[in-house]
Amino acid sequence: MNPNEGPLEIVICLGSSCFARGNSENLATINAHVQRHGLKASIRMTGKLCQDECMQGPNLSIGGKTYHGVTEAKLRELLEQLGKSSRGLHGTD
Ligand code: FES
Repeated sequence: MNPNEGPLEIVICLGSSCFARGNSENLATINAHVQRHGLKASIRMTGKLCQDECMQGPNLSIGGKTYHGVTEAKLRELLEQLGKSSRGLHGTD
């Protein structure tokens, strides 16, 4: 990892709409991914409250890029892409 880079920040909306529409499962999926691949030092997870974008939810952002309508399949795809990026994260699940 580049010493100038901090941990990759994943911000997940924990507002009631996003949480009910999938971020509850997405949170568990991300936590399992971090555990499975020993990424605790590489990823910083943050929760946020409703951002008034509920209709596009469930919403989360990874490295400052916001994603809407994040299904579990889409999240797995995003995590897999991270594993292939220069950040050196794993994403083979
Ligand atoms: S609950 Fe996530 S944007 Fe409203």
